[in-house]
Order: sequence, then C-alpha cells, then structure tokens
Amino acid sequence: MQNNCCAVILAAGEGRGMKSARPAVMAEVLFKPMIDWVLDAVEDAGIRDICTVTGHCGETLSAHLGARSETVLQRELLGTGHAVLQVRSFLERFRGGDVLIVNGDTPLMDSKTIRAAFEEHKRAGNAITVISACVEDPAGYGRIVRAADGAFTRIIENCDANETIRQIHEINSGACWFQCDRLLEVLGLITNENARDEYYLTDAVRILLANGQRAGAFAAADPDVVLAANDRLQLLDLNTRARQRMLTHWLLEGVDIPCADGIFIGPDVTIGADTRLLPGTILRGKTAIGEDCVIGPNTQLIDTLVGDGVKLDNVLSEQAEIQDGADIGPFVHLRPNAKIGPHTHLGNFVEVKNTQIGEGTKVSHLTYVGDADVGKNVNFGCGCVTVNYTGKEKHRTVIGDHAFIGCNSNLVAPVKVGDYGYTAAGSTITDNVPANALGIARARQVNKEGWVLRKKPYKGMK
Ligand code: UD1
Ligand code: MG
Repeated sequence: MQNNCCAVILAAGEGRGMKSARPAVMAEVLFKPMIDWVLDAVEDAGIRDICTVTGHCGETLSAHLGARSETVLQRELLGTGHAVLQVRSFLERFRGGDVLIVNGDTPLMDSKTIRAAFEEHKRAGNAITVISACVEDPAGYGRIVRAADGAFTRIIENCDANETIRQIHEINSGACWFQCDRLLEVLGLITNENARDEYYLTDAVRILLANGQRAGAFAAADPDVVLAANDRLQLLDLNTRARQRMLTHWLLEGVDIPCADGIFIGPDVTIGADTRLLPGTILRGKTAIGEDCVIGPNTQLIDTLVGDGVKLDNVLSEQAEIQDGADIGPFVHLRPNAKIGPHTHLGNFVEVKNTQIGEGTKVSHLTYVGDADVGKNVNFGCGCVTVNYTGKEKHRTVIGDHAFIGCNSNLVAPVKVGDYGYTAAGSTITDNVPANALGIARARQVNKEGWVLRKKPYKGMK
C-alpha cells in the first residue's frame, strides 16, 4: 500500500436494531468485536493511518481502540456523509493520496478485497471506487444502480428505493476508496434530502459523476465480505457464516472434528494437525493449540497456549499455558497466568491461578492452587488448598520437586515445602517444611472408649 493512503472507519451509529447499551460495532462475531475485525482487515491491507468516527458510547469505543486508531467524535448522528465531514482535518493530511472509508459493522470485509479494489481504483483513475457484491438478500442495503451499458451511475438507499430498484441484488458494502482531494471537494455538497433526512456518503457517487469525475463499483470476489450486522438477526447470520468458514479452514488443515455441534473457533486461533475437537468446544482470542491434542467435550479456551499431545476434558482456561502431554480434566478451571508443565495431570474440580506447575506433577482432585511455584513430580492428595490471601494481601506457596502434599492440607502462604517434603493429611501448614521432612500440623487423635453407650447420641437409643 502506498504511503499516502489512510483509512476512516465509520463507527458512530447506535445500531438501533441492536438495542444495546454498548457501541453497536463492538457486537461480537466469533467472540471478537466487529470493529476489531475491520481494524485487522485495514491493517493487514497495509494501511497505517486510521481514524475512527465514534459517537454512540464514544468513550467506551475510544478506550477499546487505544493506540490502534485516532478517533473523532461525531456529536450528532446525521448520517455517513456527516460522519466523514468530522474527519476533514485528518483527510487534509493525505491530500494527493487515497482514503479507504469502511463501515465498522461489516466484519467480514478482508484485506484481499480492500487491496484488489485499490488496484482497480488506481488502474481506472477513479475519484471513487465502491466495493460492491451481488447478495442473495439485498434488503436494507444501498443498491448499485447501473445504466443500460453497465456504467455505474449512483447508489440508492433501501428506504429511498422504488420496487424496481429494490429488485437489484448488487449492493454497496459501505467500503470505498476515494481520492482524498475529490472527497474533500464533495463533502460539502452532500445534502440530506431523502427519506431519512440523513447526509448520505453514498450521494458522493452521483455528485462526482455529475462533476465529470470517474466512479467505479468493484464487485468483491467473495460476496460474504460485504455483509453487515445492523441487528442481532444479521449478527447471528454473520456468526453462522464466520463459524462455518473457520470449521472448513481447520478441517482442511487436518484438524479432526467428528461432530461440529457447539464448536466455535475464533479467527485468531491456531490449531495443529491431528488435534481432535469434540462438541461444545469454544476457542477464543489468541488461543494456540499444538498437534495431536484432544480438546473437549465442553471446553472453553481463551487466550490459552496449548502444546502437543494435550488432553483437555471439560476445561475452562483463560490466559494460561499448558505444555506438551498434559492431561487435564474433567472439570478444571485454569485462571490467568497458570503455567501447567509437561506430562502433568490435573483432575476433577481443580482450580489453578497464577501458578507454575512442574513436569509430571499430579493434582487429581478437589484442589485449589493459587499464587504457587510447584516443582516436578509433586503429588497433591485430595482437597488441598494454598491459602494465598490474607484478606488484604496475596502470598506465594513454594513446593519443591517430588514433594507429597497429603489429603486435605492447607498451605498457609507465605510458606515452603522443600524437595521430597511431606505434609501429613489434614494438616494446616503455617511453617516451612524442610526438604525430606514430614510436616504434621493437626491435633493428635483421642479415642473415648464407650462414649456412645454413655452419651446415647442417636435417636431412639435407650
Ligand atoms: C450503509 C450505506 C449503504 C450500505 C450499507 C452497508 C449509507 C448512507 N448507506 O447503510 O449504502 O449498503 O451501509 O452495510 O452510507 N455511522 C456513523 N455516523 C452516522 C451514521 C452511521 O458513523 O451518523 C456509521 C455506523 O456506525 C455504521 C456505518 O456508519 O458503522 C454505516 O451506518 P449504518 O447506519 O449502519 O448504515 P446502513 O443503513 O447500514
Ligand atoms: Mg449498517
């Protein structure tokens, strides 16, 4: 992409159809906000200078965008033409260059289409090149109107269209390339004389043509890229299409999916060949999974790194790392910064947070390990707890290699158990246990002979 190219993302609309208190463009497709899909496409196309028009819930959106985009607030939502007027001073910086305008509610728009449209825009010497597509159901979209000879003449919005125009299946994606100078000239000429009393950016086509400029409609090779989500129904449709695309992609890459029920694979996920996904598996964010794993059933991984040969059954994991050959589940919760070493086993109802667990360690049942450094080949009995929180501060528990933590031990942090150290079942360990030592911290048992016969504690005892 040339240096004097920039992009403007239109994202101020409240998306009335969404009925949401959040910015409409933050509605999610495959658990990723639509605006992030659009930003990725723009960045992947090689465009570095991006300005987003915010409006409805503008602060939330600006905070979300962070350093990825400049923002300009559109105080009154008077239409897409008015939205672009707000970024005049941004556009001034790119005089002599070209600008991509793209809607924030078209998440499947991709960098390939953006680039191809740009090439056509330059080749034809157009003042504006609109990205269009022929879709099955054009309802709601602006229609691409062509003369008898096929020449692009204008865009007519759905609500301004008569029956004949509504029959047209070629629609405007909302994405278009403009020569910056032509766009700056035309912005002030757009009026709001239409069914919605809005300033339509799409009127630029008609005005530029009337002024002797060239306008083109570039039909996208893949018609899905133009689809928008103006309401939750369209959002479900986009999710369905995007989900099927990801499934198809990974099946062709050698991932085994015997039944796709409830399987969602986010767009930024990677999966190695011969890994098997079972029903109810949701892979989100920047999750990366190695080869030859079995993931699921009913497993949700968010921003989680998984090595090769890992087994995860009914696991919820967020911002964790699981190394090769680990066998985890059923019913395990890995929370941020859990780092689970190779060939470990975590079993029923185990929760791990901000903890490293060394190679070969087993934590099989009903245990919480938080803020701990656990060595290699450690064995946790059933029902152990690292007591990491004083109510005010968090402290770490350190456990050496080959240690044995007896059933129902509480390790009150800060505390250490040395290499080969033992804790007796039922102990509340408050002092360090040296290497090779046994720590016992519980009352000695006393048997009171004949107590039941004397006390008669059961109902009906005489
Ligand atoms: C728009 C196009 C239509 C196209 C469709 C593609 C216009 C007039 N119409 O229609 O031709 O087929 O997109 O999806 O451009 N926005 C603002 N400020 C505003 C109004 C809208 O920033 O004042 C933003 C919205 O947040 C949205 C985008 O612009 O991301 C498009 O607006 P929307 O209201 O969704 O337009 P559509 O009716 O979908
Ligand atoms: Mg829209």
